[in-house]
Amino acid sequence: METPERSIIRKLLKETKPGDLGSRVHLKGWVRTKRGNKNIAFIAVNDGTIIHNIQVVAQVNDFEEDLLKQVTTGACIAVTGILVESPGQEQPVEVQAQQIEILGTSDPETYPLQKKGHSLEFLREIAHLRPRTNTFGAIFRIRHALSFAIHKFFNDKGFYYIHSPIITGSDAEGAGAMFRVSTLDAIQPPLTPEGKVDYARDFFGKETKLTVSGQLEAELGALALSGVYTFGPTFRAENSNTPRHLAEFWMIEPEMAFYDIHDNMDLAEEFLKYLIRYALENCLDDLQFLNKMYDNGLIERLEHITDVDFERLSYTKAIDILKESGEEFEFPVDWGLDLQAEHERYLVEKHFGKPVILTDYPIEIKAFYMKQNEDGKTVRAMDVLFPKIGEIIGGSQREEVYEKLLERIQQLDIPEKDVWWYLDTRKFGTAPHSGFGLGFERMVLFVTGMGNIRDVIPFPRTPQNAEF
Ligand code: 4AD
Ligand code: MG
Repeated sequence: METPERSIIRKLLKETKPGDLGSRVHLKGWVRTKRGNKNIAFIAVNDGTIIHNIQVVAQVNDFEEDLLKQVTTGACIAVTGILVESPGQEQPVEVQAQQIEILGTSDPETYPLQKKGHSLEFLREIAHLRPRTNTFGAIFRIRHALSFAIHKFFNDKGFYYIHSPIITGSDAEGAGAMFRVSTLDAIQPPLTPEGKVDYARDFFGKETKLTVSGQLEAELGALALSGVYTFGPTFRAENSNTPRHLAEFWMIEPEMAFYDIHDNMDLAEEFLKYLIRYALENCLDDLQFLNKMYDNGLIERLEHITDVDFERLSYTKAIDILKESGEEFEFPVDWGLDLQAEHERYLVEKHFGKPVILTDYPIEIKAFYMKQNEDGKTVRAMDVLFPKIGEIIGGSQREEVYEKLLERIQQLDIPEKDVWWYLDTRKFGTAPHSGFGLGFERMVLFVTGMGNIRDVIPFPRTPQNAEF
């Protein structure tokens, strides 16, 4: 008899119609568990397309003893059999095995995922195998769905996806260290007569780094195509060992000509709600699993956010609220100081009980490109703050006036030779424009309810950690 085409397990569990029962099916996947007795074996198989396993039932006498011995947790098998209604409560259908083929054995003595219930810390040490767990399967499927939703949201709005470079000669944010990209000999680099490293002889003829943001290039795009966005990896060499910082993370940066800061806030709020709604509508099985296993307030929190209007207020008002809160903070609160995660979370979780958008921050604590307010002290910045996360989005209206931007660049000693092309946009057909950056992993962290950013990216890059 011919082997039917392979079915993915999600289809079998979710799309089986009454007329499909009794048909022969073929599936492939990894064994999660095998139990039973000397007559019958129940094999739970998972192929990663859905959180649930399919149950394969094998009559022991129908198979070589040697073959069933190799059906162990972690082994990869192919099964052909009859799809039948399942008498069990847990699953709608199961498969009565006619043929089982071992595609890859897995030694029970050494397979690290032999037992259930490993800690997330342990699983980080086996990042090459953790996608085989229910938890990481769920997280990575949600991560995929959110990526797809991001492209869908912007495409439906008529925005264009811009691929900003990863290797760059400029420092967009002017904050935090960057990773250098070089092919010079690390031990004996060529030197200038003054004894400095001679980057003129490096691969690109100048000093280059991994980008911290695609924003400056996105601005060039917006001032030509109106609405654009980037979605790519960004790199920060800060030594921040926190549950919310990665050295390599993905960022979505929309940039819009003719948007002021209010349009910018409206778009950010609409975007975040869209992504959360998309996950609720398309990833409910995985969210229910995470809700049950890790965070029983998760789904309720997600639904709440799609319902409420985000609170919008100025940085100055937020400082007043924090000062009057009577709360004991670890870090000081004073006008002019940057807000720490503890302050942001107080505002969101305790004071307002919903997401908050803070605007008009002191000029000294924000990047050079932000539009200067009339007061000479603040800039048209906007940070979106979320429960459990703190800052999830940072953005601003941009300074579009050539003289003002140049003045700020000079005040901050940013070499004009690095940003002349950026300044050019303010010389030729400048326009009011705005944009923001959403940290993708912070969004995945929020949607999955996980506590550590290392658990929402397949291969986290953090200080002292780049094993996989
Ligand atoms: O606030 P940031 O630094 O803003 C920018 O880079 C702007 N160029 C964005 C723009 O206006 N186009 O970073 C934006 C977001 C933060 O709000 C945070 O969510 C995330 O990126 N982020 C990080 N995520 C993980 N690890 C890190 N080290 C992060 N640093 C920033
Ligand atoms: Mg920021």
